[in-house]
Amino acid sequence: MTASEKALDRRIKQHVIAKECVFFAVVQPGFEEVAADELREIGVADGMRIVEGGIEFTGRLDACYRLNVCSRTATRVMMRIAEFKASNFVKLRTHACGIPWELHIKNGRSIVFSITCHHSRLYHTGRIEEELRGAISERLALYGLVPVFPDAAGGGDIPQTVFIRFDNDRCHVSLDTSGEPLYRRGYKTHGVEAPLRETLAALILRAAHAERYGMIIDPMCGSGTFAIEAAMMMRRSLPGLHRDFAFMQWPSFRPAAFQYLVRSLSGGDAVSAPLPGTVVCSDIDDSALAAARENARQAGVQDAVLPEKRDFLREKIVIPPDVKALIALNPPYGRRLSSGDTGALYRRIGETIRGYAGCGYAIIVPALDLEKTMSLSYDRKILFMNGGIRVAVIVKNG
Ligand SMILES: C[S@@+](CC[C@H](N)C(=O)[O-])C[C@H]1O[C@@H](n2cnc3c(N)ncnc32)[C@H](O)[C@@H]1O
Repeated sequence: MTASEKALDRRIKQHVIAKECVFFAVVQPGFEEVAADELREIGVADGMRIVEGGIEFTGRLDACYRLNVCSRTATRVMMRIAEFKASNFVKLRTHACGIPWELHIKNGRSIVFSITCHHSRLYHTGRIEEELRGAISERLALYGLVPVFPDAAGGGDIPQTVFIRFDNDRCHVSLDTSGEPLYRRGYKTHGVEAPLRETLAALILRAAHAERYGMIIDPMCGSGTFAIEAAMMMRRSLPGLHRDFAFMQWPSFRPAAFQYLVRSLSGGDAVSAPLPGTVVCSDIDDSALAAARENARQAGVQDAVLPEKRDFLREKIVIPPDVKALIALNPPYGRRLSSGDTGALYRRIGETIRGYAGCGYAIIVPALDLEKTMSLSYDRKILFMNGGIRVAVIVKNG
């Protein structure tokens, strides 16, 4: 190591590894409080501030690693690195050159930008990106480092995303710490039409207090997301155990320390531990069942998630009298159903659910009129967007 490399290494230890940083966990809007509970459980609640679409918290890098590896509900985690006022491009360039990019970006690293502007004099995202590219190159050149700005996404390593948000002329600069979104757990290799995101399934299971039940039923399972997430929760297996993260490419990343952290988090072999409850997973469609089976295998829960062919609206699922069950339901909706079909289906769903007296349920409902059609009581309702459609989940405690 040369003297200047040693000096840079010392600064990385001092200003990144040993320093408290501000992070932001991106969360599906509508579920911020539900995700905040998970963050508290994971132990990353210092300085917690809940805002629309996410949760801010402070901590060292290991807090950010823990959240990326353990969270079932966050979409991604970002690290705030700068905030300044910039109402013209000269100011933007000057401030961006002052950011110590050398502490975060390795030589030859690909960088992409995600830029949003609200109520700000600077709104031309192309020009903003141009200034940032120039500033980062200029700053890194002082340390003999060269960044790469790929012209099109795709191929090779996942690039480092720099998030730029302009709000009332204030520029907020953050680095993505996650890489691929955290709902990409790596198990969903087989899809169906309208699958649920893994993070959304986990949020709904948490909102319904799935941990209080001995049986989780996913009776319109599609690719099996509710069932697989429920089995992974029961086993306490780490959702991010088998994937890479953007922070692994940072100059501050220490693989041995990270491995030690992961070993301490996984607490041995949670993956092979017996399931403390039962997961029931069924669908009417053979291709959905095949997808759910394969996904359960990829997730390592094939012994716990055994998809069965069943028409939920005609065949009753047997629940032992001493077992408390939660029905997590994501019924079909959208283009393939005519409005008449949809109304009849949701009426039947309401009748069927009423036949499971004493069970808890969490049901995704695509529209207010369909919620009325089902005529089911609930304790909690959360509105959110799913696949561009405004939907709700109604939750009834069993
Ligand atoms: C919106 S998809 C569920 C998606 C699933 N949550 C996932 O993550 O992939 C609805 C599913 O309901 C199934 N379905 C429709 N009618 C059914 C019925 N009467 N009984 C059981 N499953 C049914 C469909 O085959 C489809 O797979």
